[in-house]
Amino acid sequence: MNERTVKGKRIGIIGVGNIGASILRGLLAADGGGVSGKIFIHDVKKENLESFEGGRESRVAVCESNEEVAKKSDAIILAVKPTDVHGVVEEIAPFINGGKMVVSVAAGVPTSAIERDLGEGKKVIRVMPNIGARVGESVTAMCRGTYAGEEDEVLAKELLGAVGAVYSVKERDIDVITGLSGSGIAFFAAVIEAMAEGGVYEGLPYDLSLAISARTALGAAKMILAGDEPSTIKHMTASPGGTTIRGLYAMDAGGVKAGIIEAVSEATKRAREISGEAQQKINR
Ligand SMILES: NC(=O)c1ccc[n+]([C@@H]2O[C@H](COP(=O)([O-])OP(=O)(O)OC[C@H]3O[C@@H](n4cnc5c(N)ncnc54)[C@H](OP(=O)(O)O)[C@@H]3O)[C@@H](O)[C@H]2O)c1
Repeated sequence: MNERTVKGKRIGIIGVGNIGASILRGLLAADGGGVSGKIFIHDVKKENLESFEGGRESRVAVCESNEEVAKKSDAIILAVKPTDVHGVVEEIAPFINGGKMVVSVAAGVPTSAIERDLGEGKKVIRVMPNIGARVGESVTAMCRGTYAGEEDEVLAKELLGAVGAVYSVKERDIDVITGLSGSGIAFFAAVIEAMAEGGVYEGLPYDLSLAISARTALGAAKMILAGDEPSTIKHMTASPGGTTIRGLYAMDAGGVKAGIIEAVSEATKRAREISGEAQQKINR
């Protein structure tokens, strides 16, 4: 087995909120190839740690500090808000040695910012998962910093693979992917909700309408991932003079497509703004 696979590596997670807890649960649930040893965690919000203390989750060791997580782990997942990253990295920097690696999930924080705070030569991997991680359906984009090697990326891929699909990308593409999937999962939630409300408008009870709407989205997603083009699904469904073409016409007339393109574009612009602000801090 590759020396740097997850098995046998000591994993740390700093920040056990929405994303940190989802990754932790995914790692605990991952069968066989998952993390075999303890996972060291810390969060300033004590209630986020309670459900992982003792009992069934005894593979999790709750640490007193970020310093303790950094000292005890080979790979440290940073899952705090972007504004908290600088402080946490400065705190753990003295303990990131001996080939340890930092995996940051923070939106808009470039690897160069974390490398600058950690010090020359330290291994950094940047990832952009999404909240689908809660159900093992994240899509995660990943890139390496200057000093992380291929074997570090393999390890990070195994870690994030516990909560969904992982794609290696160039760092310059991470902001677009933040808009497309990090934020985009909320756009799909809004579309599914709007479809459900369409059902309600035409007389269905909300719960039934929402379940049917969500499963319809799932079917479309699975067909596309299996190789069908979106246009093929449209052509297979839209018979001449039928219901689907009438609905598609209404969507176009309502500007749905333009609105969705705009949503991804605006979210990407905001991600770039945040990245730019982080870059300015480095240059100061
Ligand atoms: N949520 C998403 O959909 C999503 C998707 C992709 C990427 N991300 C990225 O994931 C990161 C975490 O997002 P999230 O939504 O999981 O945030 P979150 O739910 O707020 O979790 C972050 C946790 O870290 C804690 N924390 C703050 N400062 C800390 C410190 N110095 N040491 C230890 N813990 C500290 C926070 O406590 P307090 O609340 O008390 O500050 C909070 O419990 C962000 O950088 C975000 O950009 C999030």
